[in-house]
Amino acid sequence: MQGKNILLAVSGGIAVYKAVSLTSKLTQAGANVKVMMTPHSTEFVPPLSFQVLSRNDVYTDTFVEKNASVVAHIDLADWADLVIVAPATANLIAKMANGIADDMVSTTLLATEAPIWLAPAMNVHMINHPAVKRNLDQLYKDGVRFIEPEEGYLACGYIGRGRLEEPEKIIARIREHFEQESSRLLGKKVLVTAGGTRENLDPVRYLTNRSSGKMGSRIAEEAMLRGALVTLVTTIRELPVNEKIDVRYVDSADEMYQVVIAEQKKQDAFIMAAAVADYTPIEVSEHKIKKQGDEFVVKMKRTKDILAEVGQTKTNEQVVIGFAAETRDVEAGAKQKLATKKADLIVANNVLTEGAGFGTDTNVVTFYFANGKQMELPLQDKRDVAKKLIDEIETLLGLN
Ligand code: PMT
Repeated sequence: MQGKNILLAVSGGIAVYKAVSLTSKLTQAGANVKVMMTPHSTEFVPPLSFQVLSRNDVYTDTFVEKNASVVAHIDLADWADLVIVAPATANLIAKMANGIADDMVSTTLLATEAPIWLAPAMNVHMINHPAVKRNLDQLYKDGVRFIEPEEGYLACGYIGRGRLEEPEKIIARIREHFEQESSRLLGKKVLVTAGGTRENLDPVRYLTNRSSGKMGSRIAEEAMLRGALVTLVTTIRELPVNEKIDVRYVDSADEMYQVVIAEQKKQDAFIMAAAVADYTPIEVSEHKIKKQGDEFVVKMKRTKDILAEVGQTKTNEQVVIGFAAETRDVEAGAKQKLATKKADLIVANNVLTEGAGFGTDTNVVTFYFANGKQMELPLQDKRDVAKKLIDEIETLLGLN
């Protein structure tokens, strides 16, 4: 944090008081802080509070140019190493998502090339409104990073998601950002697979599984945040993907195989979180299959094992990580996959455990390394599992 130029953008909500405390804590941590405020935010807290705590001028109006030698919004935009938008109201989020620049804050946000961290704060119904969700999705795709709002008592009297995250937690996230920025993964190529494959039976039916793609997406995102050039091969089109990630959409196991193998020589690390079908129908009917008789038998053939092929043919410099989705004998299953697929590490999850496996935001995993080491992780957000996994990949790549 020491010596970093942090631009704090404050928009008009009751949580502005937390931005005052955030300013104080950022300066105490050694950052140079400048604050810009929307006109509405000054109704809650006067600019003087931010000026005193940041020991810098506060910017509220695009047309008040205090220094004739520069254009304030461009100067501020260029000065910032990082921008925090806190609190981010629905209105400011909408402006950002649509490129509207009609005041000092929105104009500067459009002009900056610095990473933007956005901490939303609003009523629970507002944050769940489809328009706000759409705008947040758009900002996510544009590369804006989020400090998710907390659940709790809201100033409007409701209890729910929408509280601005506490200043201490925002600072912890920003610290992590600067640590990640200097990550050794910078410029490394990482391929991640995600989601469940779909194997067609006929033009209207397919066989698939319960994978939501969340685990793989979180890993791709974490690798991207640490500076890796990420290729995400996924079957899930519904999850937003950061524009810095090279996303390839596929449906079947064979399509996933083709994309991964074409990338094989270019990548430094492979993380296979996808739930890939082991079998696919031998024949795909050209027309909808009509019902006939009491039983229906589908003849299937083995798909190609993507992880095994990548693991068995990898170079000494490449790192290959597989997953094991088990419902019993987790350790034996993971160790068998480690050996047969020649992976460097298998991430095993018992998908029957509460909060683990398919569709959840959390997971409970154990890492099994090829050198015999094991690491058991408690229940935690898939984002945190991703962070720990990327830490291990950095070590396996010899970067730590
Ligand atoms: O997507 P989510 O809803 O977030 O859920 C996460 C998850 C449960 C899907 C994830 O944590 C997980 O366990 N992914 C692997 C699922 C799986 O198919 O496991 P498996 O034990 O059947 O396969 C072992 C490994 O071989 C996997 O890395 C798989 O990607 C790979 N494989 C399998 C078959 C095949 N033909 N090719 C492969 O590459």
